[in-house]
Amino acid sequence: MAGDASNPIEELKTRALEELGATDSAEALEEWRVSYLGRRGELTQVLRGLSSRSPDERRTIGAAANDAKTALEENLELRERAVKEAEVNSQLAGDAIDVTLPGWPSPSGGLHPTTRTARELCAIFASMGFQVVEGPEVEWEHYNFDSLNIPRHHPARDMWDTLWIDYTDENGDRPMLLRTHTSPMQARVMEKREPPVRVVVPGKCYRYEATDATHEWQLFQIEGLAVDKGITFADLKGTLYEFARQFFGQERRVRFRCDYFPFVEPGAEMAIDCFACAGEGCPICSGTGWIEIMGAGMVHPKVLEGVGYDPSVYTGFAFGIGVERAAMLKHGIEDIRHFYSNDLRFLRQF
Ligand code: FA5
Repeated sequence: MAGDASNPIEELKTRALEELGATDSAEALEEWRVSYLGRRGELTQVLRGLSSRSPDERRTIGAAANDAKTALEENLELRERAVKEAEVNSQLAGDAIDVTLPGWPSPSGGLHPTTRTARELCAIFASMGFQVVEGPEVEWEHYNFDSLNIPRHHPARDMWDTLWIDYTDENGDRPMLLRTHTSPMQARVMEKREPPVRVVVPGKCYRYEATDATHEWQLFQIEGLAVDKGITFADLKGTLYEFARQFFGQERRVRFRCDYFPFVEPGAEMAIDCFACAGEGCPICSGTGWIEIMGAGMVHPKVLEGVGYDPSVYTGFAFGIGVERAAMLKHGIEDIRHFYSNDLRFLRQF
């Protein structure tokens, strides 16, 4: 019977396979399956109708119908595979993806070592009750200098080589600058709040300064300010020793020395023993064995008066930490210029 188109089963099979060859989607395939092989499908009906046939017919038609059923099922499976493959290929052509290629590793970024160190430092002070606040990098001369007891034409202004903003006001003055330190936030915070005040201010500062292993023209500082009744120099030292212990570890040595800043009285600088020579003296620490990381002192009465605090009632301390210097000392980084040279071999180590 095979190949005999006049035979109804052979005719059905030929027609079914032709239609199957034209299907091009999962839906069309399902429709085809139902119409030929489903419970009410054409071939199923033929097989069901066998019971009314003579035994001879049943044998020959039954065998032919079963062969046709097997052929249709096998071809259906092949067609399903082909249709699926064609669908995937057309999707891939659209998206231009070659799924056989190895995947791209997705690089994970990291925080800059300065940001990391600033956050670590702020967390230490936050654990001691300091609140973190931030302020503007483009600042008024008033806050950067005058409010800090450094009037115009005072030689102390020379301590901070300043980058001025090219803006002239109606009096012909140039009152705007890039802040040279985070100290202008002292007056900004105190103007807005009544004591007690306990804040740390992380932020970027800029100085018109020559660079070397420990000096950059852009630097990150963290200002600290605590004002209340009865605050003494012992509170300043206690707070800063605790900070040094937590940040650098017990084994590092700390040195306090008198220093001059117009906005504190008395003033001090705090230094940590040089990581490179352990205090022996080397080029990194300019032969001193120490690296200065912050200026500090008791808030000057004139600064308190300037913001309307009564210095006979309130006292306080302030400090300004160099964040890159702190990171250098902690991680043994021999040159501050690594921080801003954007060399990934350096940055990826953090
Ligand atoms: C100040 O900037 C004062 N505002 C600090 C202060 C705050 C004193 C409150 C008293 C009370 P100084 O210029 O020394 O001080 O800078 C403070 C710290 O910033 C330094 O100890 C150092 O760690 C860091 N620093 C200063 N200049 C640079 C620079 N060019 N590059 C990198 N770090 C610097």
